[in-house]
Amino acid sequence: MRIQEPNWEFSLGDGRLTHARALASDDDVASLQQLFEMLPSYCEKTIGFPPGPAEAHSTLIARPPSATPDDKLPIGAFDIGGQLVGFSDLILRFPEQGQCYIGYVLVDPKCQNQGLGSYLLEFSAKLAASRQSRCTHAVTGLIETFGHEGRTFVERGGFVPTGRATPYKVNTISSTRHEYVKAL
Ligand SMILES: CC(C)(COP(=O)(O)OP(=O)(O)OC[C@H]1O[C@@H](n2cnc3c(N)ncnc32)[C@H](O)[C@@H]1OP(=O)(O)O)[C@@H](O)C(=O)NCCC(=O)NCCS
Repeated sequence: MRIQEPNWEFSLGDGRLTHARALASDDDVASLQQLFEMLPSYCEKTIGFPPGPAEAHSTLIARPPSATPDDKLPIGAFDIGGQLVGFSDLILRFPEQGQCYIGYVLVDPKCQNQGLGSYLLEFSAKLAASRQSRCTHAVTGLIETFGHEGRTFVERGGFVPTGRATPYKVNTISSTRHEYVKAL
């Protein structure tokens, strides 16, 4: 499935175009696994360990109990050579019916600091607004393990803290998760 709306228009810093589509195939699972392995800090900050062997597979099938398969939109950004260079995971109609949830943003280290992460965040929210009638807010969560850099990234993306904080205890991590929201 190609993503039709809104238009994806992002070029990397050297002018190379990217394109985006939903991730689904076995090849996509392998590409996402490679991306996780290039960014071990992401899993270290969320599960306390580097990515496991089935990290990508579980990410692509995971969804909240209330969500249908159609509510899950794993978005892959590809460079001109077809390599997966960015990922975000969008869940429609979650955590509330009139909201969407952006669960991950990952960018290949060699493509970072060129705006792709921010673009994925913005595009995911626009895609939700186009697919879901009456989607008023995008929601995300930030664990304190992501520190100042994580906060800066989501706040520059237009998200503001709701003040809702919940304990986050997974494996070796004992932290706090803060909820962020962006009006659409
Ligand atoms: C967090 C992450 C997704 C950001 O991706 P990214 O593509 O580097 O993000 P952006 O380029 O949009 O923004 C990063 C920086 O580049 C700057 N930037 C944005 N657009 C730019 C452009 N066109 N040219 C140059 N710099 C740009 C931003 O100002 C930002 O600066 P800052 O570090 O001072 O905030 C990426 O670092 C990553 O994958 N990290 C590991 C996974 C992770 O931690 N994800 C969750 C984050 S909450």
